[in-house]
Amino acid sequence: MELHVPDHPLIDHKLTVLRDERTDSARFRLLTEELVYLLAYEATRGLRVSPKEITTPVGPTTGVEISGPRPVVVPILRAGLGMFEGMIRMIPTAEVGFLGMVRDEETLEASTYAERLPTDLTDRQVYVVDPMLATGGTLILAIDYLLARGAHDVTAICLVSAPEGVKALEERYDGIANVTVYTAALDEKLNEHGYIVPGLGDAGDRLYGVV
Ligand code: URA
Repeated sequence: MELHVPDHPLIDHKLTVLRDERTDSARFRLLTEELVYLLAYEATRGLRVSPKEITTPVGPTTGVEISGPRPVVVPILRAGLGMFEGMIRMIPTAEVGFLGMVRDEETLEASTYAERLPTDLTDRQVYVVDPMLATGGTLILAIDYLLARGAHDVTAICLVSAPEGVKALEERYDGIANVTVYTAALDEKLNEHGYIVPGLGDAGDRLYGVV
């Protein structure tokens, strides 16, 4: 498992405002989208492209276009929805698959309540988005679905991660699958309720105004 924590002042600035408990939902959603643009820019460096002949008003030239098979973006509902718009704006030709997952707040076990993924993910570059990589349980469940559909190349984009979650992903995938994580921050730890410290609280609640 490869972990990337891009070092960029705009990411750090926006993440600081996002974390602040005084930031309201409208601003939180906007900042999430902006952070997705910045993270997607880094996370898609390996996106496959092929040459494309075009003609500008001045003459012919060869550019590139995103190659087929189309990349797939998979938001993990609920909180991953907040990152979905930004991702498909960056990769407008992507196909979208959905995974609905919920974490039991007592046991911290993740379970699936909805799944609409393309049936065959062989050769597809898959970008799974979920803001908080806490215990890793949800992301592991999600990535396991993707691998079971034939995906070999999975990139997770998160806003805030805990070392416990990163370790769980390493233990699960090292040596068996090509999994990469891009995260805006790697925080200190999880608390006894499974929240990332300092984190930003419950990402879904903050995105959708539940708090
Ligand atoms: N999910 C969240 O929304 N926040 C956390 O800190 C951990 C899991």
